[in-house]
Amino acid sequence: MKSDTGIAIVDRDEDGVDKAFRADVLSGLRQHQKAVPARWFYDERGSQLFEQITQLDEYYPTRAETEILRERGDDFARLIGPERSVVEFGSGSSVKTPLLLEAIDPAAYVPLDISGDFLRQSAAALAEKFPGVPVHPVEADFMRKVALPDAVAPLRKLGFFPGSTIGNMVARTAVDLLRSMRSTLGADEGHLPLLLIGMDLVKDRDVLEAAYDDAAGVTAAFNLNLAERINRELGGTIPTGKLRHVALWNDDFARIEMHLRATEAIAFSVSGHDFEMAEGETIHTENSHKFTRRSANTLLLAGGWTPLHRWTDSARRFSLILARATEHRDAP
Ligand code: TRP
Repeated sequence: MKSDTGIAIVDRDEDGVDKAFRADVLSGLRQHQKAVPARWFYDERGSQLFEQITQLDEYYPTRAETEILRERGDDFARLIGPERSVVEFGSGSSVKTPLLLEAIDPAAYVPLDISGDFLRQSAAALAEKFPGVPVHPVEADFMRKVALPDAVAPLRKLGFFPGSTIGNMVARTAVDLLRSMRSTLGADEGHLPLLLIGMDLVKDRDVLEAAYDDAAGVTAAFNLNLAERINRELGGTIPTGKLRHVALWNDDFARIEMHLRATEAIAFSVSGHDFEMAEGETIHTENSHKFTRRSANTLLLAGGWTPLHRWTDSARRFSLILARATEHRDAP
């Protein structure tokens, strides 16, 4: 929610409870397959744990994608060219974003993020590192069309969406987002924006499951923090000691699923509402879809983007794809 001054504010009730968090948790726990939307992972502790995940031995995606960005700068310069305004969907990572900006000599950098704090921090760091590149942070929910600052509106755009975050959405939501990105980047205003997007690849089940269930238990702590957050913020009584982190490969949907599984039958309440879980029953907390070259292309095409070029890291674990907004007349 936004105040008139454009500062994002969380809508809280008289007890200080985030209303959207409570509504999502209560409706999610009432479902047949219990589920809580993954966006609620990221309170302060969740964000710290996630930062640790990206540094784990088992968690290869961050290193694999960074390798591509580091090695393929010449390709980006040639295929993307200079003078693009880079619009990043998310606040930007202190490692990945500079690698891209160094490679392509952009006209401006526009990070979009719903969290104003992260946004301002990373925008300030970027501005210091690239004094010649105007930085225009925009606090907004990029799942919808975002109005870009006037200064960059007429310029050619490159969307940047690393991290395989697209894989955390089910296909319908991913397609909605890809279409919103086209509108945000002005695809219908007579110029064809580009998109550079990270998509993690299907691989050995053991490698995938280990990446989401590390030996040190950091991902488990990250997943359990969601239940602890429900207890902290929503007056919950979830016996978190009786929930176990599970990461399993769902081959039909080509995705890793994270769940919290009850080790025995439990009953608890959240904000005064009662819930039960049978032994073995789970709360579904996250999906991370993995792609093949073809499934990645199909998703992009469904969202209005034509793939132009694809890179993988040396171990072929992760892909970075450059796509151009599809012209309507491409369709038969
Ligand atoms: N998009 C990344 C991935 O799916 C990062 C991520 C999102 C993640 N949620 C996560 C990593 C939960 C570990 C656990 O890998």
